[in-house]
Amino acid sequence: MKQTILITGGAGFIGSHVVRLFVNKYSEYHIINLDALTYAGNLENLTDLDQSPNYTFIKADIRDAETIDAIFEKYPITGVCHLAAESHVDRSIAEPMAFITTNIIGTVNLLNAARKAWTGNFEGKRFYHISTDEVYGSLGSEGFFVETTSYDPRSPYSASKASSDHLVRAYNHTYGLPVVITNCSNNYGQNQFPEKLIPLAINNIKHMKPIPVYGKGENIRDWLYVIDHARAIDLVFHEGKVGETYNIGGFNEWTNISLIHVLCEIMDRKMNRAPGTSASLITYVKDRAGHDLRYAIDATKIQKELGWEPSLQFAEGLEKTVDWYLANEEWMDRITTGKYQAYYDQQYHKR
Ligand code: NAD
Ligand code: TYD
Repeated sequence: MKQTILITGGAGFIGSHVVRLFVNKYSEYHIINLDALTYAGNLENLTDLDQSPNYTFIKADIRDAETIDAIFEKYPITGVCHLAAESHVDRSIAEPMAFITTNIIGTVNLLNAARKAWTGNFEGKRFYHISTDEVYGSLGSEGFFVETTSYDPRSPYSASKASSDHLVRAYNHTYGLPVVITNCSNNYGQNQFPEKLIPLAINNIKHMKPIPVYGKGENIRDWLYVIDHARAIDLVFHEGKVGETYNIGGFNEWTNISLIHVLCEIMDRKMNRAPGTSASLITYVKDRAGHDLRYAIDATKIQKELGWEPSLQFAEGLEKTVDWYLANEEWMDRITTGKYQAYYDQQYHKR
């Protein structure tokens, strides 16, 4: 079936992989990538699609309701994959308001526009909201987040995502909007902005700069390769049941410090440095305020009901990720000048 799919946040890390997958896999679809190009949005992530006939980029802000309505009037949108968001916990601690306006109001603007455009005809329509496992709060040393785990968000970022999840479900219950939600664990891979742990560490190790590890490095995250997340998004968009939530995760838990040690070994090898050189850069710094101890997803539902599972082992995924960053120095250099440096100084030197 011919579809017109609006992907928001498609110039960002995960969104760019989703846009590429959809544009290349579904030549019969028209894929519209809507992105405000904030500091995290980068069209360089998608230069390979410049000539694709089924791809359109629109620079727009989801906080601007009129513009969003106009886009729904102009294009016969049949589906939405909503990824646009402010996504970094540390920034949400420093400046929460952008998280409230983009993640909450922006999501409601999209829900309203879809509802208006689709009124009376939800047949074949779908509003897919991409969310995070952080809405569930923090785990102790045991247990996993399942789809029915109560929400307990603890940072401005996770609270704003939790709020948007509730609104998406409310539009399903109240107006019958055909929604589906996924909550995913930490992603890693190429094109991730170097404010997040893995690309920040790779970049610092490359330049022989300290690797900042918050607290004791004992916090645990469940890591998933970004292309496996994009595959899951494709599956849920096409086969997920309306009104359902699916958790997505890597079955792959690491303490931050053990992950950094693996990364250091890979970097020593790739950069032809003596073993231990990169690890000597590990520097324990002041902990993140309200730092969640552990996230871990039970992805049994999506595995059993939709047949999804991660395709890559972590060791292989990390190697591929390091190779990409080392082969794409210019991508990294261009985004780590200017504003990034100001952010970095604020976050790591003036704490
Ligand atoms: P990102 O920060 O790399 O990209 C976000 C994109 O959204 C950028 O291109 C940015 O320009 C755009 N954007 C921001 N504000 C906007 C606005 N007001 N209007 C239009 N566009 C705007 O984020 P990401 O890591 O790719 O995450 C994408 C989505 O996946 C987010 O909703 C995030 O909550 C969710 N998620 C991320 C992870 C992760 O580990 N990165 C895990 C689970 C879920
Ligand atoms: P991050 O990549 O910011 O993702 P999230 O906070 O969404 O899980 O951080 C991953 C983990 O790494 C988290 O426990 C915080 C920690 N961390 C550091 O120790 N040092 C850093 O410089 C950063 C950015 C994160």
